[in-house]
Amino acid sequence: MDKLVIEGGAKLQGIVEISGSKNASLPVLAATLLTAEESIVENVPALNDVQTLSQLLRSLGSQITRDEGVFLISNQDIHSVEAEYDIVRKMRASVLVLGPLVARFGKARVSLPGGCAIGARPIDMHLRGLEQMGAKVVLEHGYVEATAPEGGLVGTRIVFEIPSVGATENLMMAACLASGTTVIENAACEPEIEELARALSSMGAKIQGAGTNVIQIDGVSSLSGLQHCVEADRIEGATFVAIAAATQGDLLIKNIQLNHLENILMRFQEAGCEISPEGANALRVRGPEKLKNIDIQTAPYPGFPTDMQAQFMACMCLADGISHIEEDIWENRFMHTPELVRMGADISMNGNLAVVRGVSKLTGASVMATDLRASAGLIIAALAAEGVSEILRIYHLDRGYVKIEEKLSNLGACIKRVKQDGSSVVIQPHIVMPAEAGI
Ligand code: UD1
Repeated sequence: MDKLVIEGGAKLQGIVEISGSKNASLPVLAATLLTAEESIVENVPALNDVQTLSQLLRSLGSQITRDEGVFLISNQDIHSVEAEYDIVRKMRASVLVLGPLVARFGKARVSLPGGCAIGARPIDMHLRGLEQMGAKVVLEHGYVEATAPEGGLVGTRIVFEIPSVGATENLMMAACLASGTTVIENAACEPEIEELARALSSMGAKIQGAGTNVIQIDGVSSLSGLQHCVEADRIEGATFVAIAAATQGDLLIKNIQLNHLENILMRFQEAGCEISPEGANALRVRGPEKLKNIDIQTAPYPGFPTDMQAQFMACMCLADGISHIEEDIWENRFMHTPELVRMGADISMNGNLAVVRGVSKLTGASVMATDLRASAGLIIAALAAEGVSEILRIYHLDRGYVKIEEKLSNLGACIKRVKQDGSSVVIQPHIVMPAEAGI
């Protein structure tokens, strides 16, 4: 398995462009299953998770041609409605094909994803919603088999006990082709839901309220081809804010949706970062000499995202004082803490609360990445640490960050990827300073 070797201590400076969003691309690509017409999706990031979903779609019969970030997808000749374990186990978001398949073909067989490193991640709300729309759902041999009633799914009122991003997306897609009206209450409000609704609307779907906690979908009998350009990845954008914060850096982060980051930016500002918008979709972030301690509590959007918890914790390891970090979305999302402790962090755990006592320095060490965002947290710690760190098992990182080592190297980081066979990839940095860009 590849690893990253980072020599910490550089104050990162320069310009970085944020790629298309992983969490928006996946449901949008799954939504193309709702139509036999050709769909076009632009600005799709080159990530392993996107590759996994493409593999799944192809296994169902999708014809996909890809030119850089532009995907042309035809789902005219779907010959299977089964998402196999071998693909689903690699990526839980594979379950997003369930709603579209049942809605268009009346049936789907999707492997149960099982738990993952950050938590049990059940899909009970996805399944209950489909049942409420009239589907018969059977769990057998590790697979969910969902069958729509004669005449197709029927619109209904669905009330979630907690807002789930994936369940909102799955049921919103299913409801587009159901008869009558579906109302999802206590729906997730994440920007990716609003984005999916826009993509579905481009197909002729009738959706109101996406981005609020009540979404109404008036079913239509068929949908046309989807056309959509994926928005920038808000978590990648926020990760670079954390990188500037932890390295006393000075970054111009381009292609960023500022209105999706309000809560996060406020926290980094409180921690002492200088943050100023540069036009509509760029942000300049300057990290302070010493970060201030800030408490956070993860919550569904617009709260502080769980997907930024590890990166924020890495910053707080070097803050001036004690910060409390509460994880309220996933039950097991603190696996980066023992790794940070190996680098000299002072963190004590009490259930879903981490108490981080800022230290004067972190020191480089060999650490193990345990999930996607934990990997990002460890990179931030390594960039800020004294000496050399090795981050092992970075395949998690390749699921969700496009060319991270190239982007970091262009900002002045001393970083290289060591391949499984022992060969290393050293990137020739191409550094453009914010000042040279006229800022
Ligand atoms: C999505 C994101 C993930 C992010 C998470 C929370 C994608 C591809 N992934 O994951 O990066 O961390 O939102 O912001 O967009 N739950 C149930 N039953 C269900 C569904 C969920 O109990 O049927 C629980 C989960 O265990 C979790 C909470 O609801 O505790 C939120 O999960 P959910 O919003 O569904 O996360 P994902 O859509 O899987």
